[in-house]
Amino acid sequence: MSQYKVVHCTINGRRVEKAVDVRASLTDMLRNDYRLSSVKKGCEVGECGACNVLIDGEAFNSCIYLAVWAEGKEIRTLEGLTGPNGELSDIQQAFIDEAAIQCGFCTPGFIMTAVEILEANKLYSDEELRKLLSGHLCRCTGYENILRAVKKTMYRRLGKEIDF
Ligand code: FES
Ligand code: FES
Repeated sequence: MSQYKVVHCTINGRRVEKAVDVRASLTDMLRNDYRLSSVKKGCEVGECGACNVLIDGEAFNSCIYLAVWAEGKEIRTLEGLTGPNGELSDIQQAFIDEAAIQCGFCTPGFIMTAVEILEANKLYSDEELRKLLSGHLCRCTGYENILRAVKKTMYRRLGKEIDF
């Protein structure tokens, strides 16, 4: 059996076709073949969330997702969030405004999970948001600011008054 397989998928809106090693992770495919360096390699065992990307709208740890499983899927990474002229999306700007970035290693993963949360168009409680974000580790321990960035963006998108 061949060690390589051709995978067809959409990455940040672009249809692509790539021969990948059947043992390669989606992290490796995105970083090595497409230079999407926002996808970080942290623990590489599904514990830290640094490699998080959206697959068909759902956040996954790409380090424990085989590249070949991406066949027919729509993959989104942080690079796909910016506008045509590099404008930051609201959630990226909120991370800056709330000082939710320190070394920045965990940031792309957190933001991709935040995108999934925001696209649900629901008003979550703090407790629910903490639970939804709990798959991510921030070694700089910026958790409170991260929570505030996500919460503020959620309120803004839902047109709700921000009273915190
Ligand atoms: S690098 Fe994938 S979960 Fe840590
Ligand atoms: S900002 Fe450094 S790990 Fe989170």
